[in-house]
Amino acid sequence: MNLEIDSDRLTQELDTLAGFPDAPAPAVTRVVYSEQDRRAREYVKGLCAEAGLDVREDAVGNIFARWVGAEPSLAAIGTGSHIDAIPHAGRYDGTVGVLGGLEAIRALQRSGAKPRRSIELLIFSAEEPTRFGIGCFGSRLLAGCLDPSTVHDKDGKTLDEWRTAAGFHGGLGSVALPPGAYAAFVELHIEQGPLLERAGFPLGIVTAIAAPASWRIAIEGKGGHAGAMLMRDRQDAFCAAAEIGLAVELAAKSTGSEDTVGTVGVCDVFPGAVNSVPMRVRLEVDVRDIDGARRDGVLARIRQACDDTTARRGVRVRIEAINADAPAECDATVVAALAAAAAAHGLPFQKMVSRAYHDSLFLAGIAPTAMLFIPCRDGVSHRPDEYASPQAIADGALVLAETLASLADR
Ligand code: GLV
Ligand code: MN
Ligand code: MN
Repeated sequence: MNLEIDSDRLTQELDTLAGFPDAPAPAVTRVVYSEQDRRAREYVKGLCAEAGLDVREDAVGNIFARWVGAEPSLAAIGTGSHIDAIPHAGRYDGTVGVLGGLEAIRALQRSGAKPRRSIELLIFSAEEPTRFGIGCFGSRLLAGCLDPSTVHDKDGKTLDEWRTAAGFHGGLGSVALPPGAYAAFVELHIEQGPLLERAGFPLGIVTAIAAPASWRIAIEGKGGHAGAMLMRDRQDAFCAAAEIGLAVELAAKSTGSEDTVGTVGVCDVFPGAVNSVPMRVRLEVDVRDIDGARRDGVLARIRQACDDTTARRGVRVRIEAINADAPAECDATVVAALAAAAAAHGLPFQKMVSRAYHDSLFLAGIAPTAMLFIPCRDGVSHRPDEYASPQAIADGALVLAETLASLADR
């Protein structure tokens, strides 16, 4: 097959997509259901239509763009990722899997390939947890493993309210895919860590995805005047939160494994005035491990630390567990297809674990799934200086195209 990736076009499309940010450049922030999210969706759907794909959206805004195969009744091969971006992020996380997936399909079209199975590009609604505290709600709903009525933002506004205001209607129960909807799913993504670059490999083939968990922790103390309230009378919610934050770090380190990580990424202090003793604090905590049981042990230690802080400081601590997912194993057949495609193009690869989570974590529950990683500079991600070279992206799109073609002809 004569596959050629149009790297200039792909780079230009990634740049254009980065031009729909909720924040000033060079940072990209794009939160699901914002105006910029709507514009970015329109842009990507337009490109898909231009490529002759059949485009549809479901009731929460997951986008499906299908290149209909020679035998349309067969289960399709899926590929894709997300176009939302966390606050102060870069332009490659997720978008490489979306626009790189589209370019892989276009490269197959240009080569004259006529795949047996349909190949479908998926753009998942909100891989990032920014709006609702939970990552991957689009792919969780597709996989039928999330009750949509439980999803709300930090102010209690529900997913249903947000998505209808954004123009997405239809029953939330209709989002789950029927069994066997995809014969396989492959996601192209930047590694988001340093291992490929350090080892000098242009590609990583993911064999397992680590198990994420997240909590919202609400701490309620006693507010007051920062000058007049005596230290001995205080129940400072921020000081309690600081103890809990350090306990998260300690608990993650206590396993002694590099695969365990714990982060407090959000700390909202109320009322947030320099001369006011903090009355309430909201923390958002992220804990992950490739070993689900060990991750749960870390969560238990954090819960114990919350109880200790409550007892010592007289504050109230309420934990809302948002998610605690199992790790996912990638499918051996899809991994082998990726390896064969990389070899066919003379590109060496390393097999590896994904420490970041991805929509593939949930697609793996309903379809044979694997991921293809490309290196990113210095392993930097979730930062404006995130960067993947045009060559690295083109290598990824090429091997993805080859893989999709081989899976689609089975
Ligand atoms: C995804 O962005 C993650 O946090 O792993
Ligand atoms: Mn991300
Ligand atoms: Mn991502």
